Amino acid sequence: MHLLSRPRRNRKSETIRTLLQEVQLSPSDIVAPFYLLSGKGRKEEIISMPGIFKLSVDLIAKEAEKLHKKGVQAICLFPVTDSSHKDFYGTEAMNDSGLIPSAIRFLKKEVPSLAVISDVALDPYTTHGHDGIPDADGYVNNDKSLRMLKAQALSQARAGVDIVAPSDMMDGRVLAIRKALDKEGFTQVSILSYAAKYTSPALYSPFRSALSSTPSYGDKKSYQLSPSNAKEAYIECSQDENEGADMLLVKPGLPYLDILYRIKQSTSLPVGAFHVSGEYSMVMAAHDKGFFDAKGAFDEALTAFKRAGADFIFSYSYNFL
Ligand code: PBG
Repeated sequence: MHLLSRPRRNRKSETIRTLLQEVQLSPSDIVAPFYLLSGKGRKEEIISMPGIFKLSVDLIAKEAEKLHKKGVQAICLFPVTDSSHKDFYGTEAMNDSGLIPSAIRFLKKEVPSLAVISDVALDPYTTHGHDGIPDADGYVNNDKSLRMLKAQALSQARAGVDIVAPSDMMDGRVLAIRKALDKEGFTQVSILSYAAKYTSPALYSPFRSALSSTPSYGDKKSYQLSPSNAKEAYIECSQDENEGADMLLVKPGLPYLDILYRIKQSTSLPVGAFHVSGEYSMVMAAHDKGFFDAKGAFDEALTAFKRAGADFIFSYSYNFL
């Protein structure tokens, strides 16, 4: 039969399909997040994230080196802070010999060519679990928080971090951090801004239980974006770009592919996606129940991020690479 177009011709064999593939997923697209424990030789299970463990830095270095050999270029670190080191102001975040700066030094010595990304936000260090410093009425005070965040970024830079990643969603933090870094001579430390970070108590929940950082009161709606709003993401991203961000991030992942796509169209900066803890856990829960195979679900999700425009993807699925 004569048909003017037979689109299936472009899918007729593996060879043709491979030739015409629009996006290619590679390990170098992945940023692997790690939950950091103090001490040595320590490994603790995270019940809500099957297959992911909290690790001390020596074990993270071993895992990271394996991933690096497979092509992963960057990891990011989140600290499991002992409750005895938490306080109202998150003072531990600025401790030059704290968990994160020490781990950065160790990793840059052990695996120098692997990029280390450190999170800038106070929630793993505060008794209340908020990303900044609350006023008496509980509202997180923007400008007081900036002072702490600057100091936190500086202590990570002094330890030799490659990229600082503010995830706190305070106004003006990219500029504050850029100025503080440049003033101390850290002009080569990059800023990856979690610019479009949506409030997602459900999907961030496994992360928060791993770090014991669930807010002790209220929620994060006065600083993280509302899932109903797309336009605010443009404001956040263009502001962070103007303040000197080197890269932007959209988070969570799959529910915000539309935001990722739109932001990618509106900026020339590299844009990343964060396939967050709850998204990982959903897949693993279905996998463990035998509903579907995790590897296939992760490959499809990561490919979707690439198709939507992601230049890099934070994902806990690195054990499936
Ligand atoms: C907080 C922060 C969160 C995540 C990264 N940084 C959680 C939150 O905002 O409460 C979540 C990451 C994940 O769920 O994988 N600064």
